[in-house]
Amino acid sequence: MVLVVDDHPLNLELIEGCLADVDCRVVTATDGIEALEKIHEEPPDLVLLDVMMPRMDGYEVCQRLKQSPEGKLLPVVMVTALGQIADRVRGLEVGADDFIVKPIERVELVARVRSLLRVKHLYDRLDDAQRTIFSLARAVEAKDSLTEAHTERVGMSSRRLGEAVGLKEEELDDLLWGGVIHDIGKIGVPDYVLQKPGPLNEEELALMRQHVLIGEEIARPLRSAHDLLPIIRHHHERWDGKGYPDGLVGERTPIGARIVAICDSYDALISDRPYRKGFSHSDALATLQAGAGSQWDPELVRIFLTLNSQPAPEPETSAKAAG
Ligand SMILES: [Fe+2]
Repeated sequence: MVLVVDDHPLNLELIEGCLADVDCRVVTATDGIEALEKIHEEPPDLVLLDVMMPRMDGYEVCQRLKQSPEGKLLPVVMVTALGQIADRVRGLEVGADDFIVKPIERVELVARVRSLLRVKHLYDRLDDAQRTIFSLARAVEAKDSLTEAHTERVGMSSRRLGEAVGLKEEELDDLLWGGVIHDIGKIGVPDYVLQKPGPLNEEELALMRQHVLIGEEIARPLRSAHDLLPIIRHHHERWDGKGYPDGLVGERTPIGARIVAICDSYDALISDRPYRKGFSHSDALATLQAGAGSQWDPELVRIFLTLNSQPAPEPETSAKAAG
């Protein structure tokens, strides 16, 4: 069930219309207080939350939710006005999982909602230890300069690439879950290295490279994460053997790690970093292509490019929302 919260009836209608294609029930609320009441009555799987609302605004709703045990793992998407960076920062501070910018584009909304519902479904199947690891992955994301659900996108696209390659269902689950937690070891990397606004020096690189080993140690005691250890340890190996930590060449790197390496790199390329703007979709694909056979598995890059050759939807396809 998806809870849509907005004080403009037109926006509620618009979002409900967009979600008609998604296999989910939609419940609406017209302000923050009503939203919290509805969540308490029947916890949804996802909340789409407008920011400016009477009685209690979206930030406060989000903050209260994320501080409560039942709301901590409930994905919250803030619906913000275009270009208001301060709003997004505030949203991140109160624990929002993702943002949708108005005017709402149907294709984007449907894709985000489907992806977050899948993640929520995964959460629901986790045991307590896994939940802890998942929260830790979130904490890492907040420490790192990559935010806005980077690791979830990596998990989703790794699963998709694995599916295209013909991997088995359990391996696909490992890819989704492994894609989300592959960088968990960054929790042990100092903030000044993670957040350095520029290239790392030798000593800092050595610290950064530790994250694959730290991550493996964190996940090792978890029986359920056993199959993810190769992804965590080997996602920085390179096809030509010049990667780390083991310098594995070609197919000696487990396939899950080779898949996550490509999806992680793509998502990092298109993301804005403190020292550079994100690449365009096509420039990121060209970079992958250029590194196929040296950095990445050439056959997997080929399949990734085929899967992602559709450009991002143009704004003309958007439906306009008020407010
Ligand atoms: Fe990494």
